[in-house]
Amino acid sequence: MRLILGPDAPRPVTPDDLPDLYARPADAGDGPWVRACMISSLDGAATGPDGLSGGLNNEPDHAVFGALRGLADAVLVGAGTARDEGYGPADVPLVLISRQGEVPEGLRDADPGRVMMVVPASAAHLGEAEGILGPEHVWVLGEDEIDFAALRDRMAAQGWREVTCEGGPSTLGVLLGAGLIDEVAATVVPRLMAGEHPRMTAGPDVDVDLELMSLLDEDGTLLGRWRVRR
Ligand SMILES: NC(=O)c1ccc[n+]([C@@H]2O[C@H](COP(=O)([O-])OP(=O)(O)OC[C@H]3O[C@@H](n4cnc5c(N)ncnc54)[C@H](OP(=O)(O)O)[C@@H]3O)[C@@H](O)[C@H]2O)c1
Repeated sequence: MRLILGPDAPRPVTPDDLPDLYARPADAGDGPWVRACMISSLDGAATGPDGLSGGLNNEPDHAVFGALRGLADAVLVGAGTARDEGYGPADVPLVLISRQGEVPEGLRDADPGRVMMVVPASAAHLGEAEGILGPEHVWVLGEDEIDFAALRDRMAAQGWREVTCEGGPSTLGVLLGAGLIDEVAATVVPRLMAGEHPRMTAGPDVDVDLELMSLLDEDGTLLGRWRVRR
């Protein structure tokens, strides 16, 4: 892997260098630094031939994905992605974003506190989620819609300094709209998919201005680190 833009570029980079390269910025301010970690094809498909992001993943993407999980105090993920991609418990707490409150199959037997869920009070499966995860691990924030400002406060109260959001597109769209995303780590793989694939964001329009912090290349796979301009 080669760093082609960023600190001391150009230079070769190994997976061991990635935690430094993606470290929380010194001027990040108080509270959690929330970085999204996403992948797409050159023509913007966020899923591969299998209909999942797994169909696009490759070795350099796995390396950055792993580094960002390693840096994270918690992982935020939409319930859809956790269901579609068969998420199991991780080394850090997984925080599921859900409107309905249905706990994905692979996360039902997790040890207490390894999986949390954020739902509005109107969630149809709220009681069931509390029974599975424990009431203290189901954060009811907002009435009919999740109050994402309250989510940021809640993550800050946990003492979390770095949070990685692993998508999916609907969740990233809504978090961008709510101003919760500080950084986007985006992998572009050198493939063209055409067809009907989601992009890495979905939902209502947002217009988020980004600043490129670093860019890695491995055989045409480009791994950018973009900071949201405030
Ligand atoms: N390219 C990438 O980097 C990448 C990353 C992740 C996923 N993906 C792919 O994206 C696809 C899944 O896309 P997706 O958009 O459905 O995934 P998603 O955002 O993970 O999940 C959608 C679910 O998130 C919850 N949600 C979304 N917005 C919400 C809101 N405002 N309030 C409360 N809950 C909300 C809802 O859960 P409930 O249904 O539980 O209410 C909704 O059904 C899969 O194919 C996956 O492989 C790609």
